[in-house]
Amino acid sequence: MRDPASFAGLIIREKDPENLEFPFSSLNSFVTPNEQFFIRSHFAVPKLNPRSWRLKIEGLVDRPCQIDYNDLLRLPSRSVTTTLECAGNSRIFLTPKVGGLQWGLGAVGNAEWTGVPLAAVLERAGVHAGTVEVVLQGGDAGEIKKEPQSPGKIHYARSLPLEKALRSEVILAYQMNGAQLPMSHGFPVRAVVPGWYGMASVKWLTRIVVTDRVFRGYFQTSDYAYWDQPEGLPIQLLPVAEVEVKAQIARPALHEVVRANSVYRMHGAAWAGESEVTKVEVSTNGGRMWKPAEFLGAASRYAWRLWEYTWHTPSRVGRYTVMARASDARGRVQPMHRDPHRGTYMISHVQPIEVEVQESAPPPPTDRYTI
Ligand code: MTE
Repeated sequence: MRDPASFAGLIIREKDPENLEFPFSSLNSFVTPNEQFFIRSHFAVPKLNPRSWRLKIEGLVDRPCQIDYNDLLRLPSRSVTTTLECAGNSRIFLTPKVGGLQWGLGAVGNAEWTGVPLAAVLERAGVHAGTVEVVLQGGDAGEIKKEPQSPGKIHYARSLPLEKALRSEVILAYQMNGAQLPMSHGFPVRAVVPGWYGMASVKWLTRIVVTDRVFRGYFQTSDYAYWDQPEGLPIQLLPVAEVEVKAQIARPALHEVVRANSVYRMHGAAWAGESEVTKVEVSTNGGRMWKPAEFLGAASRYAWRLWEYTWHTPSRVGRYTVMARASDARGRVQPMHRDPHRGTYMISHVQPIEVEVQESAPPPPTDRYTI
């Protein structure tokens, strides 16, 4: 395993606020170490002191209340290992180019989060009958000046339908991979919403509002929304929510030089939101033929599955296109083509990775996964 201290670093997609990408080609472990986990923040990190931090629970509840940090730590906890993928991950592959941070393959990571089920906190407050959604608000705020502009200074906020908010996997996390939650990842407390794109996992959580209507905040209408056309209805704008099925190739990386007539270990990860990845297939000839890849380790709900494939590289030098595609337990298969209704989000169609096969090439990496 690579020594974390010698890690070359994250890719800077934006300096201020800090938006950093994990170099996906360096993937070599099931759990992404905290210092390698991508960071997606819309505003500056709010400085929250755990001694004065309070989580307010209000709205349609019998007992509006405030929970302090030590209170939260005393409640029964659970851990959940889940993959967090930003809804804009892989945006750099879209043509024509679309607005937003130009993420490559690394706005995704897999970590073990520990905290208190959101359901336990809601139960303590006593949710009224007729509740529709639970709004989660972060302590970070700012004004968005690029289009679509925000109505002045706003807090980061997202909602969950009550049914998802009450599911046992949704937690208010204070630990990441066994360590105190790092500042950039939401210290002191963040929501973790397994199976949903990362935008639902609100960091620096300070306020929960229980409501009898659908929340239409900036980050689920002007931003993080997509067009959907259910049968028989006119087209409508919906908040981005559940993660799509997707496989990504870590190696070979885009434009990697691979030695002709050799054995190359292709590898990557695949995930399927609230479902389970059941199959990953690989094509090394531009999508004409697909062969099954092998999984490393058993499936674990909400977490990605690492996979590998032994590629006997062609003897003829030239440019080749490799691809991976995943299927899940619900029968979803990664599409080959982009659905334009998704705008700048949910980029889950198969990504062609072009590689150069040459007579001489640097030896492929020899490090194996740590599961
Ligand atoms: N929560 C707050 N308060 N502010 C934010 O900007 N970004 C969201 C989500 N939670 C965000 C937030 C987005 S878009 C993503 S993808 C994830 O946090 C990223 O979590 P990470 O930075 O821990 O990887």
